[in-house]
Amino acid sequence: STNCYLLAIESSCDDTAAAILHNDKVLSNVVATQEIHEQYGGVVPELASRAHQQNIVPVVTAALRKANIDKKELSAIAFTSGPGLLGSLLVGTSFAKSLALGLNIPLIDVNHMQAHILAHFIDEDGYEKPSFPFLAMTISGGHTQIVRVDSYFQMSVIGETIDDAVGEAFDKSAKLLGLPYPGGPLIDKWAAKGNPKTFPFTRPKVEGLNFSFSGLKTQIMYFMQKQIQQNPNFIEENIADICASIQYTIVGILMDKIKKAVKQTGITQVAIGGGVSANKGIRHALKEAEKNMGWKTYLPKFEYTTDNAAMIGIVGYLKYREELVEKNNYVDTGVQAQ
Ligand code: KG4
Ligand code: ZN
Repeated sequence: STNCYLLAIESSCDDTAAAILHNDKVLSNVVATQEIHEQYGGVVPELASRAHQQNIVPVVTAALRKANIDKKELSAIAFTSGPGLLGSLLVGTSFAKSLALGLNIPLIDVNHMQAHILAHFIDEDGYEKPSFPFLAMTISGGHTQIVRVDSYFQMSVIGETIDDAVGEAFDKSAKLLGLPYPGGPLIDKWAAKGNPKTFPFTRPKVEGLNFSFSGLKTQIMYFMQKQIQQNPNFIEENIADICASIQYTIVGILMDKIKKAVKQTGITQVAIGGGVSANKGIRHALKEAEKNMGWKTYLPKFEYTTDNAAMIGIVGYLKYREELVEKNNYVDTGVQAQ
């Protein structure tokens, strides 16, 4: 059996994150969220890279300290090689490469989207690991995919968005309502107090297992403009019902496709991952499907939904264990920008 102490680094977007794992258990999981982007209403790549440069050493130091591990005890280092923002990825990549070279330990590159899926294999009390094959729906600010997972490293994308990601749909809708970035969690919060059937938005018609969200954003924009013309306080007076209606529509779009995927593949095990898997609407809808349709669903622990390094660590560990890494060898792992 392996005895692996692993440092994982994630810097693909606007969170600088580091985690320490002992095999498949998380000893520490530190995230520095960059607040600088809030005032711009979205992630500014150049500012993100600069903030990663400032955060990377303190975040890694904090992760080691919280795990009570000295860097000399590390067996390997895993880092996000992509997809993501080039400047952001480079900070984590360069740091990981240098440290692995200095410590003479293996360096393991990890795909961010694979990590959102394999986060389900972190050993956590009260959380069951999926068995193969299962379907994973990765729903984040950058991606929306349905993936057929046959083993840890055999995955195939069977459906994806043809335009915006679902997280973008949440964030852009929130922006139209004057909510700060990232607005997804705020829509979720307001939705809990509203009636989802108040404003019926239409779902797009998209072939197969693919998604489209850009039409919804436009639909919401025209709807708001029209309502505000009649009542300038429309948003303030109806914020809960608007958020509930938007969330109901988005969750409906996701559920339609995952139901179709289950039907097509005959696989009734469904896992979700990515920032939007924190959403109460989608969590509730999946639990309902479990009850009514006999599915088995896997919802990640909240701290592993949005970007984090623990999920990078579990992929690193699984690769290390399967010896997909050349031990004590410098591996030139390139960065794959989005
Ligand atoms: O996975 P993630 O942290 O970063 C990417 O890889 O993109 O996902 C961030 C996205 C944002 O769009 C954010 O608004 C959304 O996840 N999000 C949510 C919720 N929590 C985060 N969307 C809806 N409801 C939530 N509770
Ligand atoms: Zn992500």
